[in-house]
Amino acid sequence: MTPVTDIDEDGERLRLTRSGLLRGAAVSVVALSASGGAALSSSRARAAAPPKGTVTRYPLHLPPTTAPASLTLAEAPAVVDLGGGSYSNVWAYNGFFPGPSIVARSGDTASIHLVNGLSEETITHWHGMIVDERNDGGPRYAIAPGASYDYAFTINQRACLNWYHPHPHMLTGEQVNLGLAGAFIVRDSVEDALGLPFGAHEVPLIIRDATLDSAGNLQYKPRSGGFDGQIPLVNGTRNPYLAVDQSVYRFRVLNGANARIFGLALSSGAPFTLIGNDGGLLETQTNLSRIDVAPAERLDLLLSFAGLSVGQSVMLRDLRAGWDLLEFRVVAPGTGSVPTLSLPTITKLSNPVTTRTFSFDGMSKINGKLFDLNRIDFQVPFGQTERWRFITNGNAPHPVHIHGASFQVQSRTGGRGQVFPWERGWKDTVLLEDRETVEVLIRFDAFRGKYLIHCHKLEHEDMGMMSNFEVV
Ligand code: C2O
Ligand code: CU
Repeated sequence: MTPVTDIDEDGERLRLTRSGLLRGAAVSVVALSASGGAALSSSRARAAAPPKGTVTRYPLHLPPTTAPASLTLAEAPAVVDLGGGSYSNVWAYNGFFPGPSIVARSGDTASIHLVNGLSEETITHWHGMIVDERNDGGPRYAIAPGASYDYAFTINQRACLNWYHPHPHMLTGEQVNLGLAGAFIVRDSVEDALGLPFGAHEVPLIIRDATLDSAGNLQYKPRSGGFDGQIPLVNGTRNPYLAVDQSVYRFRVLNGANARIFGLALSSGAPFTLIGNDGGLLETQTNLSRIDVAPAERLDLLLSFAGLSVGQSVMLRDLRAGWDLLEFRVVAPGTGSVPTLSLPTITKLSNPVTTRTFSFDGMSKINGKLFDLNRIDFQVPFGQTERWRFITNGNAPHPVHIHGASFQVQSRTGGRGQVFPWERGWKDTVLLEDRETVEVLIRFDAFRGKYLIHCHKLEHEDMGMMSNFEVV
């Protein structure tokens, strides 16, 4: 075995040595997924190109839902249908790509048995869940192939869309990219009281990019500037469509890409109604015709199809890549326009006691340091409100993510020079572009223990743009 010495497009030697060595293992074991029960031929390249000018679209996959109690989640290779019978080798939770949507209520207890069915170490992190260190699934808790890990925690936070994904040291980009991610939805009585669309009218949309090899299997080709996939997938579906009626839908959007930012818009130019983000509902609803969403950020959007006739359709697009992401096909009558909601107020953090500055340097360092699994870089007093300032000296975008607490974005100066409507309320990930300074207020008031701050561009994270700190 030789270490990886690829020079990527940016001319920087990839430091993803462990991923590189293990890259070939991705397709070595094949298991049938629950959704891929059809006989598999040796050739999986069945996604034949349609005649020019037409795109065959496939029904959007909707992951099964599960409660968080007595849940076993196994990370293992699987074969899934990306749409229209094009089978692909992926890595999946319980054979599903994306993994099952965990749906819980605030106050519930999660007891989750994680099984490592991969050929390398892994651990699962519950992104956005405020849990103690032992349950946070950080890289110091990684388990060996064949081993298992038991989580037990109380869900004690407001309704929101969180998610789960692997978080092993230097292997996160590979494991997420090959398919390991799922939604973790929290509900509460405040949300219930709003009477938001539910059931078939509440749809999770996990949007990401992917690259397929010549046999149609997911292929992870890391580059230090960030993985740059060739096609979009929504809920693991290629060229998806969703059959809708003319009423109001609630879309729970997650950018599940390793590195790509999506500029979401509708082909009709009609606005989305934004009602929530990472940390749950916002205080005000806002109509927006474009929303830029960075890796790991979430959006809660309402959309009415009342303005379209049965038989018409509208496309969810990514204006950055010029991609069609998801076609909404109106197939049935319905009624309803987007309601005016009285959304909950959010208590503002204020009067920070200290300011800490974090410089996201190059592609692999924070404040000049590479991540060290065993080094604790700073201590944060429990219960104290602090101002954390994020700066960069190049190689952005850096989606900055913090474990252990949500934060409130105060300002962005330089660069885009504003805080966008989707950055209000409670956040756990905020996009930092070149020349920008972003300030947030944060208070760790749930648990003492060791947590992480890192870039959620997973290739930057794997190369070392991550830091351990301890709440004391
Ligand atoms: Cu979504 Cu530390 O990760
Ligand atoms: Cu970064």
